[in-house]
Amino acid sequence: MKVDVILGLQWGDEGKGKIVDFLADKYDVIARFQGGPNAGHTLVIDGKKHVLHTIPSGIFRADKINFIGNGVVIDPVTLLKEIRTIEKEGIDVSKRLIIAKRANIILPTHKILDAASEASKGDSKIGSTLKGIGPTYMDKTGRNGLRMGDILETDFKVKYELLKNKHLQLLQIYDYNFDLKPMEEEWFAAIEELKKYQQEESVYFINNLLKDGKRILAEGAQGSMLDIDFGTYPFVTSSNTITAAVCTGLGLAPSTIGKVIGITKAYCTRVGSGPFPTELDNEVGEEIRKEGGEFGATTGRPRRCGWIDLPALKYTCLVNGVTDLVITKADVLEAFYEFGVCTSYQYNGNTTQELPYDMINADIKPNFEYRPSWEHFSYTDKLPETLQSYVNFIEEYLDTKVSMVSNGPEREAIIEL
Ligand code: GDP
Ligand code: IMO
Ligand code: MG
Repeated sequence: MKVDVILGLQWGDEGKGKIVDFLADKYDVIARFQGGPNAGHTLVIDGKKHVLHTIPSGIFRADKINFIGNGVVIDPVTLLKEIRTIEKEGIDVSKRLIIAKRANIILPTHKILDAASEASKGDSKIGSTLKGIGPTYMDKTGRNGLRMGDILETDFKVKYELLKNKHLQLLQIYDYNFDLKPMEEEWFAAIEELKKYQQEESVYFINNLLKDGKRILAEGAQGSMLDIDFGTYPFVTSSNTITAAVCTGLGLAPSTIGKVIGITKAYCTRVGSGPFPTELDNEVGEEIRKEGGEFGATTGRPRRCGWIDLPALKYTCLVNGVTDLVITKADVLEAFYEFGVCTSYQYNGNTTQELPYDMINADIKPNFEYRPSWEHFSYTDKLPETLQSYVNFIEEYLDTKVSMVSNGPEREAIIEL
């Protein structure tokens, strides 16, 4: 058995949640390997919308194990809220959810630090979701972090106070007001509840499942262009979001990785600041936002919209070793007579298909080809000819097969090719 991976190839929000939920039926274990509550993964099941932030998108399928890996950072308050919301659907989450002991915890002061740091940056702010992601990963790599296993130890409060006091000292460099007390109370109450959930050591847990022949699906968060090493730095998140992170985020050897399913929208979006060469900061972009309902699932912020960027996708297919592509939101382009496809950039007087090192200050102009759109179609139909030809074009450009096209937010709106 191999571990299959689903991840986003753009700047996040490609529709990972929907595709994981659809495919989860074919797996026994669904495991998140990085990121935290900065993620917002939307599932639409029987007409009802669910947004998940920390819990893997297999939670609505019976008899599946949903594992939050050691590479994830957990906000106890958000996680508990998610659990309670899902319980309202009559699901006993405690029977389906397992948490890695080594997953780092987001403290209330991590969130305050995130907000204070962003506020101090003014115009150069990252556009963080302000969920405390950056400061928590900083403490993890700085070897100061608290982990889920620690909440079961008698000295947890002592460790907490030590780290909190470090944060309070750090906060003195910012001119930022906050009220920690109510946040702390809510946080400790959530920690108390989370003690009831099963915790495991990733390496033994996941490898034993694999040895027992269980089918495992690893669920990514964010997107490859937000990767801390290979994304549009510094306008990125604070974790590795690529296939390599499956190994470090779950305790798996590289040789265990099977299919890598990369997801892209039929166009492109980005939320927050940073380079976005194919952005349409005009009425066409607005039309995409309206047709695609492009507003953040976590923060509600309007997403920046533009046409698909094939050079960027070529780059992210390469770094991830994508074996299968999924194109989502094909239905959104029905509203357009024709749409753009960026096939190269104009940069430094040259035409190139490579992403330049400095995407922030460089003058990069996308070269677009325009393609005809298609009429409305159902997921029970064959792909319209113009869409099939767009799929063929992408396959050829990226030298990777497209295995699915999604044409609606609902679980069943998928055409398998
Ligand atoms: P994720 O973070 O990658 O899971 O994606 P989000 O949930 O943040 O954003 C994707 C949005 O598009 C959600 O509102 C989904 O319900 C919706 N969605 C997913 N696939 C499709 C599709 O094929 N067509 C349409 N119209 N909406 C889709
Ligand atoms: P999903 O999993 C889209 C973006 C933020 C910001 C930058 C850094 O739903 O695809 P952070 O909170 O990590 O410090 O923010 O990354 N970002 C996302 N954008 N989808 C996400 O997750 C994102 N998670 C973070 O908007 O620009
Ligand atoms: Mg999202």
